[in-house]
Order: sequence, then C-alpha cells, then structure tokens
Amino acid sequence: MTRDLNGKNIVLGLTGGVACYKAAELCRALVKAGAQVQVVMTESATHFIGAVTMQALSGHTVYTDQWDPRIANNMAHIDLTRRADAVLVAPCSADFIRKLAHGACDDLLSTLCVARPRHVPLLVAPAMNVEMWENPATQRNVATLREDGISLLGPAAGDQACGETGLGRMLEPEDLLEELVASFQPKVLAGKRVLITAGPTYEPIDPVRGITNLSSGKMGYAVARAAREAGADVLLVSGPTTLPTPHGVRRIDVQSAREMYDAVMAAVPGQHIFVGVAAVADWRVANPSDQKVKKQEGGAPPELRFEQNPDILATVAATTGISGWPYCVGFAAESENLIDYGAAKREKKGVPLLVGNIGHHTFGQDENSIVLFDDSGHTVLPRAPKLALARQLVSEIAKRLEQRSLLT
Ligand code: C5P
Repeated sequence: MTRDLNGKNIVLGLTGGVACYKAAELCRALVKAGAQVQVVMTESATHFIGAVTMQALSGHTVYTDQWDPRIANNMAHIDLTRRADAVLVAPCSADFIRKLAHGACDDLLSTLCVARPRHVPLLVAPAMNVEMWENPATQRNVATLREDGISLLGPAAGDQACGETGLGRMLEPEDLLEELVASFQPKVLAGKRVLITAGPTYEPIDPVRGITNLSSGKMGYAVARAAREAGADVLLVSGPTTLPTPHGVRRIDVQSAREMYDAVMAAVPGQHIFVGVAAVADWRVANPSDQKVKKQEGGAPPELRFEQNPDILATVAATTGISGWPYCVGFAAESENLIDYGAAKREKKGVPLLVGNIGHHTFGQDENSIVLFDDSGHTVLPRAPKLALARQLVSEIAKRLEQRSLLT
C-alpha cells in the first residue's frame, strides 16, 4: 500500500444505508494510505454502524450532532472543514443527495457540506436501491450535484442488499480510495483517449504449453492508472496477468502477440496516445500442435519452428501520419548498454518518446528506475514505486503534447 494520502485531511461523511459496513473498510484504507480521517455521521447512519467502530478505526472523535458541545466554539459545521483537503460522503443516500442538491442545512453533515470552503472538493458515493437511484427525482438531484461541481463516484451495478439487482451499489472501498487519490492528481490528460498495452504475451506450443516471459504487467497497469488519474479515457490491452484492473480503466484481455496486435489495431483509430508497455514476444511457434505433444520414451524432443510476430508499436507509430495522433510511447527492456540501446530503439521504432529500463530489474518488481529518450537526449528518473514513475511519465507525455500543440 502506497501512502498516497500522506498529509491529507479527509472528512468522511456517512449517511443512512447498508453500505455503511463498507465505510468501515474505507476509513481503514484511508488511514493506511496516510490520511487523517474525521468521521461525521448522520443520525440515520448510526442505525447501520456504531460511532464507536468509526472512532476506533479513524482514531478521532466522531461527530453526529450539530449541537455537540465538545467543539470549543460549538460550531462543528465550520471547524471540521477548515483544515480539510476533501469531504467524501460514503455512503451517500438518496435523501442526502436531495439535501445537497437543495443546499439543506438541517443536520451536522449537510450543514458542514454547505459551509465548507469553496476550495474543498466534495465527493459523494451514492448507495441505494436501484429504483431509488433511477427515480427521476433522484436523477434530477444528481444532475444538480454535477452542475454544482460535486463529484459523483459510482454507483456500481450488481446485486443489492435488498435482493434486487442494478445500479445503486456503493463502489468498493478500494475503488473509492483510488478515486479519492485520483482527485488530487493534476488533470493533465483531461479529454484524451489513451491506449496502453501491458503484461507478457503467451505463445502456444500446444493446448497446454506455451512460451511467455517474466513481465508481471505492473508497470503497464501503473501507467494505465496514472493516465486515468490524469483525466484520460483509458483502454488497456493486457496479456495474461493476475493484477486487478485499475478503477475506471477498460480492459481487453489477450494472450498471444497476434491477438494483442488485432486488439490494438481495432482500437487505435481515435486514440490520442498509445503507450506500448507490454513485453511482446518477438517470435511465435510457427507449428503449434492441435493436441498435447506426447513425450516418447527415448524419442527425440519436438522440433519447434518460430516465425516473427508483428511489431505492434512500430505499426502504430507508422500510422501516426499527418494528424500526429496517436502520440506513441515505447518501452525497451534491456539487459545492458541501456543508454545506447534505448536511443537506437527509439529511432528504430519511429517513436518520439521511448522509456528504457533494465528487464531483470523491473519484471515482477514494485519499484523501477527508467530512462526517457527523446530527440533531445535522455533523462534518468531514479528508482521509485512504479505508480510514482508512471505519474511522472504521464506528466512528461502531457508536457510534450502541450509543446507540440504550441508548435502547430
Ligand atoms: O523490440 P523490443 O521488443 O525491445 O521493443 C519494445 C517495445 O516495442 C515495447 O514498447 C513493446 O511493447 C513494443 N513491441 C511491440 N510489438 C512487438 C515487440 C515489441 O509493440 N512485437
């Protein structure tokens, strides 16, 4: 767990809903991520989870009443947000959405939301029955919240506590954590569509065996998450990995290099940026067997013939053409001579930006160090968690896009 919320003061508001049980996990996750969490609960929320639990998890007094005399000046609705970096209401009931839409101030949490300083963002995670969510009155109120600049996180669709199915489930705590962390990242890729490949490929020998490599997909997934945090619409084409999809990222799973090629080529029109992070197999088995190859006692091992896979990155880079899109970024995993090989590979692939790293220092690791190669030379980004490097890379890409648009 990275301490992405170090130094952040978060007011976590709970309103009435079964999803209050998830707010306990969320509170824990926020604290683990480094945040100071101030919990405020509506009276309804206290019917679903005890203030004692939330106090134990947050490590701070929980407030439920606007007349609470424990605040020295008796103005909890003012004091609780003056040092806040964000207010997150999770779960947010249909009734609380109504209150926010109308600026109601009839309990501590609603009053605090209205009284918060203008620079403190308000994020809400709706949680309610599907009919309540789809009710036109709720949807009118939701539209008002959006117009007022309040961020709606979810809801998700699925099975509900009431036994019905549909939109209205609160996002899972880890998704809400990702959303909150993302809300603090600069939106340098707002409105951009980004296509990313990640992970290894798997080239079959027969139905049960194949050739792959040690790429875990961690770097590509980190780039996908960082691009999404920066406001982009992200599509991830992934080889086989065990990683969860970053929240808000669309993912297409593939196995072989040719499947990855087909998925990328189908998706590339309309993309602004293409980042090839995948460790794509250079060769595939030309003569895979339809059935499992049987070992013959004393017999010769099977003969494998190989043929070259298409180069996805070079093909996409060659399609860039006069429109200038997509802006292509490649990765190169080398085992030595990174500076020379990286610069040469950038030329060979025909991409404006290439990220070099040492393969056996990065595959499967949570940290990496990378070198950025462009037409003015190279820059080393020292060892750091992959997500931190991915955020730096996204900011470097955005800077280069900005420069390009100034030149055209
Ligand atoms: O040539 P090499 O495999 O070292 O190049 C690495 C870069 O090219 C990576 O960005 C990788 O995703 C991409 N690549 C590709 N298709 C291939 C081989 C590599 O897109 N067949």
